[in-house]
Amino acid sequence: NQDRLALPVGTTLDRFIMRKQEDFPYATGELSQLLRDIALAAKIVNREINRSGLIDITGAYGQQNVQGEEQQKLDVIANIRFIRALRNGGEVCTVISEEDEDMIQTGKNQGKYVVAIDPLDGSSNIDVNVSIGTIFSIYRRQSAIGQEGTQEDCLQKGVHQVAAGYVIYGSSTMLVYTTGNGVNGFTYEASLGEFFLSHPNITTPPSGNIYSINEGSANSFPEGVKQFVQYCKDSSFSARYIGSLVADFHRNLLKGGIYIYPATAKNTNGKLRLMYECNALAFIVEQAGGKASNGQKRLMEIEPTSLHQRCPLYIGSTELVDKAESFLSPEP
Ligand code: AHG
Ligand code: MN
Ligand code: MN
Ligand code: MN
Repeated sequence: NQDRLALPVGTTLDRFIMRKQEDFPYATGELSQLLRDIALAAKIVNREINRSGLIDITGAYGQQNVQGEEQQKLDVIANIRFIRALRNGGEVCTVISEEDEDMIQTGKNQGKYVVAIDPLDGSSNIDVNVSIGTIFSIYRRQSAIGQEGTQEDCLQKGVHQVAAGYVIYGSSTMLVYTTGNGVNGFTYEASLGEFFLSHPNITTPPSGNIYSINEGSANSFPEGVKQFVQYCKDSSFSARYIGSLVADFHRNLLKGGIYIYPATAKNTNGKLRLMYECNALAFIVEQAGGKASNGQKRLMEIEPTSLHQRCPLYIGSTELVDKAESFLSPEP
């Protein structure tokens, strides 16, 4: 069966999604369509990002989002583009987004799925031509079809994700996703307008020598994190920190390493958001053989209580996440 699932490098994303669906004879194709909708929006956002310096869509938009962050124009544009694609696709009843305080009802109440999305990750890097991304999680709704999605549909544990992925707008644009059967990466060929399978069955090294953490906040790191960072230095690891979660994660996924955003004085529960940043990457890293925790427990087991809640993130190669956890005090 594994052989049948294996598709050659160069397969288009559309064909890949279609072939995967054929392997599940009872699938109705709605999840496949949803993934294609996201890929289409990613192409549009990629186009906007590539020419952003030329068409006055860099810089601040002039409003704050619910987290009190200064929205960038591209945060807003990407949000509009992804939500429009999800609404038009019709497979999704409800969306939660970093850029919207409340749940977004698409009006497509027949939709079986809910999506959590960080439309544009790494906003501080937009204007300086550094890699940015998009992160998404897909859940099956729990409420009955035919009405609007509920808060319970949106606040599911990470373990209930049916698919998750990210787009990295980097030196090349890639889409990486999982439906719980391994992780595959697709590189965008802009002149053809297609994503092609370039990184089949991604597995992350069990260990590595890269650590990624914003050491500017080191004075207020938890004691265990200070000790772990010292351990990384004593081991002559490389420090790598782009400041775009997607890009930092993607590098460590391929090369082996650990990314940490701990609780700090400024962000007492960490900075990153559970529902549309952490859970998706946790699903992907586990599917690739790595590990994700909040320092104490498996990240995908956290019971969410609000749409925009934050949580500390320790993610990457299993041995390194285990090592970091060994310096931290266990859950009380
Ligand atoms: P976003 O741009 O979606 O608001 O996310 C910002 C996040 C994440 O991309 C990045 O890893 C982190 O903020 C960087 O935070 P610091 O600048 O505090 O290191
Ligand atoms: Mn933001
Ligand atoms: Mn983000
Ligand atoms: Mn964002």
